[in-house]
Amino acid sequence: MNKTIYYEQKGVAMTCRSFKEYQDMFMLDEHLLKTGKVLDVASGASSFISELNKNGYKGIAVDPLYHLSVDEMVQFGEKEMLIANEKLETIKDSLAWDYYRNLTQHKEIRNQSFQQFIESYTLERGKTYISAALPNLPFADDSFSLILCNHFLFLYQNQFDLEFHKQALKEMIRVLKKGGTMRIYPLVGFKNELYPHLDTLLKEIKTNNIHFELHNTNFRFLPNATHFLQINK
Ligand SMILES: C[S@@+](CC[C@H](N)C(=O)[O-])C[C@H]1O[C@@H](n2cnc3c(N)ncnc32)[C@H](O)[C@@H]1O
Repeated sequence: MNKTIYYEQKGVAMTCRSFKEYQDMFMLDEHLLKTGKVLDVASGASSFISELNKNGYKGIAVDPLYHLSVDEMVQFGEKEMLIANEKLETIKDSLAWDYYRNLTQHKEIRNQSFQQFIESYTLERGKTYISAALPNLPFADDSFSLILCNHFLFLYQNQFDLEFHKQALKEMIRVLKKGGTMRIYPLVGFKNELYPHLDTLLKEIKTNNIHFELHNTNFRFLPNATHFLQINK
């Protein structure tokens, strides 16, 4: 579907997707989660890492907003959810409703995920939740078996240039273990348009040890967000 969507986004929003949403967007299976340490880059107020750790796996979340106190995070997150809900209402007829039943259900999932995130952030801020921003990650080379980046990189394609994307990918590849997997979703911007520089970007960061694949995901919301990028090191 090539329909253009008019979703106005100034600056980077903070969202709070759940473990289940991550699992479905990235087609995650147990085998992938249990291979070693997981890093969620641009994790925002997502409960993915909290739920992952509760399930016995090992994960770290990174986001520049993790300098916020718990109270500041609660206030900011609640405001962000209200803004997003209002904007989604205006474009709901352009979205694919194969996954969520309706906006009410979407909102309930996000509210629940946000509560779970806040509980975990209260206990683990500065430990599981590390404040950092791409293109610089405060981790040693070859640290993580699985790296995810959900709704940041290519979604904000109009706010960050090719050079930023190049440095960001190189940095995530640096901290990815040999034999590890990285997945990035979605590959479209807010107008439902595919990131136009993907081929150029991948050619520029290609080395003998890196392999790229595009995978279909069963998750549907932005109609053209049908694939994630997988990088194997
Ligand atoms: C739309 S949210 C996505 C949150 C979460 N991944 C999810 O899917 O619900 C985008 C996040 O990117 C973070 N962000 C902004 N600039 C960043 C940067 N340079 N490096 C890493 N994360 C960044 C924002 O703070 C925000 O929390």
